[in-house]
Amino acid sequence: LTGLPREETDILVIGSGIAGLYTALKVAGRYRVVLVTKDNPAECATDLAQGGIAAAIDEEDSAALHLEDTLTAAAGLGDPAAARVLVTEGPGRVQELIEWGIPFDREGDKVALGKEGAHSRRRILHAGGDATGAIIWQGLAARAAGARNIQLWPGTMALDLLVVEGRCCGALVLTGEGNIKAVMAGAVVLACGGAGRIYPVTTNPAVATGDGVAMAYRAGAEVMDVEFYQFHPTVLVHPGAPGFLISEAVRGEGAILRNQAGERFMPAYHPLGELAPRDVVARAVASEMARHGSGHVYLDLTHLKGELVERRFPTITSTCRELGLDPLKEWLPVAPAAHYFMGGVRTDLNGRTNITGLYAGGEVACTGVHGANRLASNSLLEGLVFGGRIAAELLNQELKPSPCPRLKYNTLKDGGQEDTDNWLAAQEIMQQRAGLIRNGEGLQEAASTLESWWPLLDYLARDRLAAEIRNMLTVAHLIITAATWRRESRGAHYREDFPETVPTYRKRLVLAREKEARE
Ligand code: SIN
Repeated sequence: LTGLPREETDILVIGSGIAGLYTALKVAGRYRVVLVTKDNPAECATDLAQGGIAAAIDEEDSAALHLEDTLTAAAGLGDPAAARVLVTEGPGRVQELIEWGIPFDREGDKVALGKEGAHSRRRILHAGGDATGAIIWQGLAARAAGARNIQLWPGTMALDLLVVEGRCCGALVLTGEGNIKAVMAGAVVLACGGAGRIYPVTTNPAVATGDGVAMAYRAGAEVMDVEFYQFHPTVLVHPGAPGFLISEAVRGEGAILRNQAGERFMPAYHPLGELAPRDVVARAVASEMARHGSGHVYLDLTHLKGELVERRFPTITSTCRELGLDPLKEWLPVAPAAHYFMGGVRTDLNGRTNITGLYAGGEVACTGVHGANRLASNSLLEGLVFGGRIAAELLNQELKPSPCPRLKYNTLKDGGQEDTDNWLAAQEIMQQRAGLIRNGEGLQEAASTLESWWPLLDYLARDRLAAEIRNMLTVAHLIITAATWRRESRGAHYREDFPETVPTYRKRLVLAREKEARE
């Protein structure tokens, strides 16, 4: 690191979605925070979230019911303690957002509540109809912009974590001008979201390249549950809007799925029909597509009241109309696409990883709360609840930046030229062999194809694309490894060669760079 410019802060937050902003806001009364984000701060999954944020706030509802739904969707692998924290602390965090002025939609004198798959009650708060994430994000970002202690560095990509003697003391970042500098911090909070870009079609923003999981893994952190990647069943199939989500809330209001023959098929797959858990619906859609040799099925909203559709789903309605599709008059072509990474950097209930000083919150983290399949609209909630817990943990300490005098950065060797064409090929392999439906042979093929690029992992990337490709390769490698090991089907991980859920596999797979452990 000799010669590299250095900056100092108490807390370095990496990522500008709900988990990063909320954590930063909660600690800024006491600490100096630098929040880095590799693009425009609004480029995050939070900003794209449509359906909403789940919380048991209705008198007909309870944390116990929300807990039961969360654990049922999790297919036997949800961590009950983490899920209990989520559902019991969730309503208080949401109430705080309301007090901060986030304008959730209302019905009369009450907050309006929507319904989504596998929820036994209406408990989804939404804003602007289907613009919930964007409205929450704007509220938090405006607050952060006004906070004296928060410095926001857009266009700044974290490249690697700096870890000395088991303690994380900062990160190397790439500035918008292409310079590398070291940011030394008393604690580092990873909040940089998921990895949808490892697949060719995803609802995620372009920044979702698995940076947090890859950096943490390289630094020696444990990652967990990475075989579980959630595919959203209803993503619009249209060249003008790749990855555009048609919210599950639309099915919550009564939309139905039809195959190429126009038949409603979900009741034949699950008693909850279109509102079955997301993994079930995604596989049913894939199976109908295969049966009819088609690239999509249809989502039919035409029987719903036009006024309801336009009021509740203005973003979806207007985007479809701009593309020449009128959801009130015609069925929408939809197919599954990569949506949410259940796996991530393993943390305890306070966001602590196995590396002192390194925390993770939101989609990049894995507390085990979602198990093998996340319940719809639990992810914004996760960012708030566990972001709040990380903040509480940090406020309990006396943080100051560590100078790390003996810091050595071993992988500071140039090289590893990115190859975008190869990367596009890798995305296709991930989709075909390590996507919604997997088998041992396909996973082996994916592993051998990606293997030729693994030497890249040891190089320091000196531009954003090279760094992203390195991170995506790392995460792809982790997913393939874990998916190969789990010789059963559970939640989002479906093996056609092992279609049953096997009780002896009711355990988590934890991966770390020097060792692989199974629990
Ligand atoms: C949706 O609106 O369908 C997405 C909600 C979620 O993924 O939680």
